[in-house]
Amino acid sequence: MPTPEVSQPVPALDIAGLTVRYGPVVALDDVSMTVHSGRICGLIGMNGSGKSTLFKSIMGLARPTAGRVTIAGHTIAQARARGLVSYVPQAENVDWEFPISVREVAMTGRYGRQNLFRRITSRDRTAVDDALDRVGLTDLADRQIGRLSGGQRKRAFVARGIAQGAEILLLDEPFAGVDKRSEATIIDLLRELTAAGRTVLISTHDLSTLPSFASEAVLLMQRVLVHDTPEEALRPENLALAFGVDVTGRDAEVNR
Ligand SMILES: Nc1ncnc2c1ncn2[C@@H]1O[C@H](COP(=O)(O)OP(=O)(O)O)[C@@H](O)[C@H]1O
Ligand SMILES: [Mg+2]
Repeated sequence: MPTPEVSQPVPALDIAGLTVRYGPVVALDDVSMTVHSGRICGLIGMNGSGKSTLFKSIMGLARPTAGRVTIAGHTIAQARARGLVSYVPQAENVDWEFPISVREVAMTGRYGRQNLFRRITSRDRTAVDDALDRVGLTDLADRQIGRLSGGQRKRAFVARGIAQGAEILLLDEPFAGVDKRSEATIIDLLRELTAAGRTVLISTHDLSTLPSFASEAVLLMQRVLVHDTPEEALRPENLALAFGVDVTGRDAEVNR
């Protein structure tokens, strides 16, 4: 009898040999990494190490010169068409003056599911109301996005991902300029989402809290230096590699 094939689960995120250049600058150099469903993967690296470029590449917003990104077995275009992936961009990359309310930000998570001529349904409205409730922004739903605190802005974008029903959430430095309460709220949400099988890739400079919520961590410096448990990845000798400094003393808090 033939032995049955052991079927490997399709990874939520599979990146192979990804290289991205901006003119002469090599932002990512032959990056390969795999993240499985239900995981929270922390992305660590100094400024300029390519974290944002990696997020943009996964969203199809940066053009690789080599390599490929596979999202739950799909190409980027297929994954985006299916609303599989949601992106919370770094604060600097958002126009906070844009005249859009918190509810409308969350509603943009539903647009991928609509064709241009379909109107917003009660299902869309319910999904958005539920998402705003989950991130604790119901009372601020009609407020312009720029008139929120840093933490509330992040939660609005997380609500977009929840309303979308995205399988994979990408968060680029969601804790930068964010109060501790919002940070804790976001971490709780990410835990709930991954417990339900969703997958999270999150960049952060907050190394002290990372082991409390991440299931794995990647140290990036154009290349993947380390991909391991948070505890292993954050060992001083690994941080020294990633930050190019000697952090083998007690103070492992870098780049804050
Ligand atoms: N649009 C761009 N044009 C030119 N260079 C860029 C652009 N975006 C990023 N870079 C460069 O690519 C490298 C990686 O940047 P980035 O991905 O933003 O890193 P990180 O998010 O880790 O700070 C840096 O050297 C940065 O200056
Ligand atoms: Mg960045």
